[in-house]
Amino acid sequence: MSSTLFRTKKVEQSILDTEEPEHALKKSLSALDLTVFGVGVIIGTGIFVLTGTVAKNNAGPAVALAFVVAGVVCALAALCYAEFASTVPVAGSAYTFSYASLGELPAWIIGWDLVLEFALGTAVVAVGWSGYIASLLDNAGWHLPAALSGRDGAHGFGFDILAAALVLVLTAILVIGTKLSARVTSIVVAIKVIVVLTVIVAGAFLIHGENYDPFIPKAQPVDAGGGLKAPLIQLIFGWAPSNFGVMGIFTAASVVFFAFIGFDVVATAAEETRNPQRDMPRGIIGSLIICTFLYVAVSIVVTGMEHYTKLSVSAPLADAFKATGHAWFAGFISFGAAVGLTTVCMILLLGQTRVFFAMSRDGLLPRFFSHVHPRFRTPHRPTILLGVLIAILAGFTSLSELAELVNIGTLFAFIVVAIGVIILRRSRPDLPRSFRTPWVPVLPVVSVCASLWLMLNLPAETWLRFGIWMVIGFAVYFLYGRTHSRLARPQEAPAGLAGSAGSTRDDTV
Ligand code: ALA
Repeated sequence: MSSTLFRTKKVEQSILDTEEPEHALKKSLSALDLTVFGVGVIIGTGIFVLTGTVAKNNAGPAVALAFVVAGVVCALAALCYAEFASTVPVAGSAYTFSYASLGELPAWIIGWDLVLEFALGTAVVAVGWSGYIASLLDNAGWHLPAALSGRDGAHGFGFDILAAALVLVLTAILVIGTKLSARVTSIVVAIKVIVVLTVIVAGAFLIHGENYDPFIPKAQPVDAGGGLKAPLIQLIFGWAPSNFGVMGIFTAASVVFFAFIGFDVVATAAEETRNPQRDMPRGIIGSLIICTFLYVAVSIVVTGMEHYTKLSVSAPLADAFKATGHAWFAGFISFGAAVGLTTVCMILLLGQTRVFFAMSRDGLLPRFFSHVHPRFRTPHRPTILLGVLIAILAGFTSLSELAELVNIGTLFAFIVVAIGVIILRRSRPDLPRSFRTPWVPVLPVVSVCASLWLMLNLPAETWLRFGIWMVIGFAVYFLYGRTHSRLARPQEAPAGLAGSAGSTRDDTV
């Protein structure tokens, strides 16, 4: 039994799968497309919404340091992702990588985990987008009925019609094809970057030095809300739950980590990249560096414009300009945020359907979902199914509870990828790697520790929810995936696959 749980899919086999005509995706993306994809999905709700929340509640002006901490954790993970993505250039991101290195059960776990990350991430961003649109509509004098403005604003029934509509429209765009999506994305990314640069440059003239005093506010004890709301690390060590201070920076980092989610999505498009060996590492690391720089700059400027205790938690960037008497800038920023969040949503949705597609192509989910559209060459079936489910989720969900759940899932994926790099170096030293993670195994080990540290700074209740999702995942695997896996049915594998499909031990650890 353990030999089937840890059977691995050969890297050559993964690449071969992508070449079967009915399962092949179009190879059209360049390094620039990937970087645009990355920046398009990385800059979003995190910087536009969460900056204010964590500055006010957890870190004060030191939120800039929280972005640095989260950025370092992501950079370590990115160096591991880049090696895997350039070695195993097929759809599915960490899922595919772990199938090639760790084995089927870990791969299933990670795939299931990525579905959580992308689906909930899409829903969270759609709800954030809807908030900005609603506020722009309000400015124009149009008001949606409370029952159609989402759960938070409603008494009783509440459905966020704008968030759900956004997800459905984006689903349609993705079904039509990645190239169209990439073109739309580049225009929107340009608008978003201009807005962020506007905040930095215009805001720099409105900074008041006294707002940085104190830069790291003193730690303050808080009521942990029944224990489960406290970070797990504080419960483990029996520390009194507190905000601000040095620990507050780490709590803030575990939340603003959401702002970096997305660079891993670049890796999910490996199969659609013209030259993945060269372009993948450039796309991933390039987009991460650009975003880290922008985040630190934005948070320094915004906490300098307005004292952290006064920052707004729903639209902090725009409101900081309003507070300094620059309403025109505030409107421009709100508009840009609403436009920018659209691409974040779209790319998360794209990543999510590609993981689902890859899992179904391997037989771990029904193979019905792995046929590509004869004309558009896109995995239209999972795109439509998941698009509709996420639209419903976005309609009925409130933003804050889910962001932390997305973070824990993503950090977990980082850990699996980092371990996978070490294992794949040992089990398949022969594979060509156009990008090699430096200082293996030290760097991947440091990456695992850093991701785990941020996970431990998330609330205990987030760990509980994550555990429940994973238990459901195990049930699906043991009831369906294990027996339907392509590796369990060599006779269904195409020529060239069957020989290795039955061999479970030759490249396992
Ligand atoms: N990084 C993305 C955001 O902040 C998910 O919205």
